[in-house]
Amino acid sequence: MSEYNFDDQIGYTEKIYKMISGKGLRAFVQTYGCQQNEADSEHIAGMLIDMGYSLTDAPDNADIIIVNTCAVREHAELKALSKTGQYKHLKLANPDLIIGIGGCMVTQEHRCGDIKNKYPYVDFLFGTSMLPGLPQLIYRTMKENKRIMSPTGGVEDRVVEGIPVKRESSFLAWVPIMYGCNNFCSYCVVPYVRGRERSRTKEAVLEEVRGLAKAGYKELTLLGQNVNSYGKGLYDDYDFADLLSDICAVDGDFKVRFMTSHPKDATKKLIDVIAANDKAVKQFHLPIQSGSDRILKMMNRKYTRDSYYSLIEYMREKMPDIGITTDIIVGFPGETEEDFEDTLDMLRRVRYDNIYSFIYSKRKGTPAAEMEDNTSKEEKNERFRRLLEVQNEISLSKNKEYEGKTVRVLVESRSKTDTGKLTGRTEKNRLVHFVGSDSLIGGYADVKIVKAETYMLMGELKI
Ligand code: 5AD
Ligand code: SF4
Repeated sequence: MSEYNFDDQIGYTEKIYKMISGKGLRAFVQTYGCQQNEADSEHIAGMLIDMGYSLTDAPDNADIIIVNTCAVREHAELKALSKTGQYKHLKLANPDLIIGIGGCMVTQEHRCGDIKNKYPYVDFLFGTSMLPGLPQLIYRTMKENKRIMSPTGGVEDRVVEGIPVKRESSFLAWVPIMYGCNNFCSYCVVPYVRGRERSRTKEAVLEEVRGLAKAGYKELTLLGQNVNSYGKGLYDDYDFADLLSDICAVDGDFKVRFMTSHPKDATKKLIDVIAANDKAVKQFHLPIQSGSDRILKMMNRKYTRDSYYSLIEYMREKMPDIGITTDIIVGFPGETEEDFEDTLDMLRRVRYDNIYSFIYSKRKGTPAAEMEDNTSKEEKNERFRRLLEVQNEISLSKNKEYEGKTVRVLVESRSKTDTGKLTGRTEKNRLVHFVGSDSLIGGYADVKIVKAETYMLMGELKI
């Protein structure tokens, strides 16, 4: 473990502060991808504020733009590249504007080359391992007045504590507990761009949790690519279930969730800890990816549909009302109609509360990218549509069970689609829309459900 002041980052922060303080310079941070990236962006924002910038939510009036990218699917990469393309005119209008691109996409060498050649107005790149070195990169960009585009390959093998943080919310908080992934699922780029698994110490995690609880945070989400690997290589007899149990023992009125959990090493012990602790949310995200044993093997997932299902049975035996969600990939190379039917079968068997589904996206450098893939794009789209059709019916019928019932929701914000309403989430992560005043945001409210839809519940505030 090292502290944030390694490589003299604090010194660079101070130098930049001196250069820009009093000038009212603004920073805009754009984030793509998963919750880990959102957590990283909160650290980027924290560092920028320490350097003397204030944050803006409009790129047009920013003096520095940072894009934190994702590489998990091609779509995410294309979105970040297209957004970067749109910043060209801002740079033309303001040559002093600094643009930096960071995160998983630019941790791949081929993407660094793309950006260097096709986006000449980008000033610097920073791969996932270079995040704590951001102040130095910005300083060099300003001082040396040249692009810093060296490939940002190389992934992190250490945990850096103490990076400043500016949290987006005053009641929901991300708490990374481990980084990286060692599983090498054959379709996934994450192990290549986020490096090997490494855990934060339990002391560091618990200290952060105590601070958040004291500050009144209502919901903490523990983050890791595979939280069940927590503590490996660090402790012999302390695992994720122990950590969760210790977190639940921290004083305060908060709930705790976690993601993501790999079915191959989700344990009964963990399920027992969730069942035994009021603070642990009764919701479990357990990505199955495919319901076909043949495909699971090709994906290198190391579990079978039966071993997966026995975990689900154990969860429901302990907590009959637990909410269960999953991730599914449609159209993995070589997936046949029969394999796909196996996935649909698992959907019907488990009856997930919700699924996050994706069409397979070929990722350069992964084993699956070399596998033969004869299924047409049209066929994959059709399977994806059928998958949603099956799940939508299940989601709607599960949501209907809420009609007439009163649920407790954590009120998050005004609804984006209907500003007359507030949006909240139940413990089982269901979206609830209802009429209420802004003063409720950030707290819990009891809401009577009057109408269920496929993706949300409509309710009325109980007073
Ligand atoms: N193509 C499509 N989906 C993918 N995921 C990861 N890699 C790919 C890929 N190459 C999905 C998995 C994972 C989620 C975060 O993204 O379902 O659980
Ligand atoms: Fe990717 Fe598999 Fe690791 Fe998840 S567990 S990040 S899908 S390699």
